[in-house]
Order: sequence, then C-alpha cells, then structure tokens
Amino acid sequence: MYRDLARYYDLIYSWKDYEREASELKKLFSEYKRSAGARLLDVACGTGLHIKHLRDEYSCTGIDVNEEILEVARANVKGMEFIRADMTSFNLGMKFDVVTCLFSSIGYVRTYRNLRKTFQNFAGHLVEGGAAFVEPWFTKEVYDVGRPSMTTFDGEDVKIARLNTSEIQGDLSIMEMHYLVAERGKGVRHYVDRHELGLFEVDETLKIMEESGLESQFKSEGLMPGRGLYIGIKKKIPFFSTYSFLHLDLMHGCDQDLEWCRELGCRDSADIGEIH
Ligand SMILES: C[S@@+](CC[C@H](N)C(=O)[O-])C[C@H]1O[C@@H](n2cnc3c(N)ncnc32)[C@H](O)[C@@H]1O
Repeated sequence: MYRDLARYYDLIYSWKDYEREASELKKLFSEYKRSAGARLLDVACGTGLHIKHLRDEYSCTGIDVNEEILEVARANVKGMEFIRADMTSFNLGMKFDVVTCLFSSIGYVRTYRNLRKTFQNFAGHLVEGGAAFVEPWFTKEVYDVGRPSMTTFDGEDVKIARLNTSEIQGDLSIMEMHYLVAERGKGVRHYVDRHELGLFEVDETLKIMEESGLESQFKSEGLMPGRGLYIGIKKKIPFFSTYSFLHLDLMHGCDQDLEWCRELGCRDSADIGEIH
C-alpha cells in the first residue's frame, strides 16, 4: 500500500492539520503519562508529520513497514530516526515513555491475533507508567458500507483525484483506491492501491490491551471526528502474575521473543530457557 504513491501521500492528505493534532497530543501525553521521560515512538509513522511537530518536546523515533514512505519521512524531518519495522513483530531493544499509532494505522494489522501481538509489542516498548495512544479505524457497527469517497489535490504541477467505495468482507473493510495523477511532464497515470483494515470492536480491543499489560480506556472524542482514541498506561507487572502468564504461554506455545519475556519481569532464566 502507498508504495508507488509515497511521494503523493502528503499531497492527498494536505487537508490534515498535523500541527494541531500534535499540540492536542502533547496535552494528552502530559495528562496521562506517568513516567518522567520524553522518549516517543510513533508506530506506522507514515511521512513523519506528527513527529515533525512533536520533536521540540520529545525525542522521537518513527517506524513504518513501508520503505518508500520512510524515505519521504527522512526528507520531511531531518535528524530523527526512522526505522523499517512491522508493528506486529518489531523489537527495537529500547523503551519509550510514549507510543503513538495514529490515523487508524492500527487497522492494517487486520486480525485480532495480530492486534494482540501489536499491543504486546507496544507494552513491551513502554517503560512502567509510559502511555500508548492509538487512534482506531471504525467498528463494524458504524462502518458505512458502499459509501463512495473522493479526495482531490489541485496543485500547479500535480493534480490528483482519488476515488473508492467502502466494501466489507467478514471483519475486514476493503478499499480499492483508484488514483488519477496528472503531473507536468508525465501525463496522466492511473494507480490502484488496495487497503484492507480490520473492523475491531471497542470492548474486545480494550480487553486485548488490558491483557497485554496496559491499563486502558477509550475516549470517544479523539483527534479526528468519529474515530476516538485508545489510551493505555503500562502497568507494573507483579512477579506472581508474570509467572502465571509464562505458564499460560507454556501451555499455548509462546511466540514472543526472549528479550520481551525478560522485560515483562520474569526473574527465572531457567523458566525462560524452557519456554524458548
Ligand atoms: C494512514 S497511514 C498513517 C501514517 C501516519 N501515522 C499519519 O498519521 O499520517 C498508515 C501507515 O501505516 C503503515 N503500516 C501499515 N501496516 C503496517 C505495519 N504492519 N507495520 C508498520 N506500519 C504499517 C503504512 O505504511 C502507512 O504509512
């Protein structure tokens, strides 16, 4: 997704006010974060425009699965680290005070199984008291199936029209986005970019967040109308619950890596060794 279109991303979303969102996020960070530090990880950071407006107060790292998008981010925001990584499986070997995952990027994990892995990764990358802020995609109940959408960009040298209808297959929303790009010296080109996002329910998402070690809540008023915001604070994990958790994993087959289990607080290396 977005690969051939990475250089048009900021044009098609030029209506989005990243500066205002960043200033609202800073207020939310101060309100909810209980750790003292200012290290921030933006997951599925796209072209880095939230980081651009957060970097004055936070030391930021961005990850995204799409290298073409990351190249645009590196050009947009100099001097910050942008790393290619998949949110369902990343391990950066460091911890942060804030993890953000914005503009509905979480939907791209598609399934509840991946959603669980992703929230476990968020929790594993937070210091105790650190906070995750996740802006969701829609639930099945409010998803407007069949709705036609159009977004345009009208520049001097580039003009873009993007059209799609919203389809649904099981718990997945499917958008096949048709782009017509007219560019000086290049003629008019047509691209089709397919997006598949999971339609995750609020209660189930909160349950998964809690089970991943995040004290969680859903605010219906978020950064964008109609999307809301999940906030999860990394809990202190007592030794005994960690121990039972590991035994649970032993029964179901632990698919987390060794470092992640250690960071959860397991003090018995023999137990870890046995599982892995
Ligand atoms: C709608 S864009 C949002 C980008 C950015 N957060 C913003 O607000 O502009 C979704 C982003 O999620 C990224 N993405 C999709 N699946 C991903 C995954 N599994 N891991 C990391 N990034 C992913 C895409 O490459 C894309 O940059």
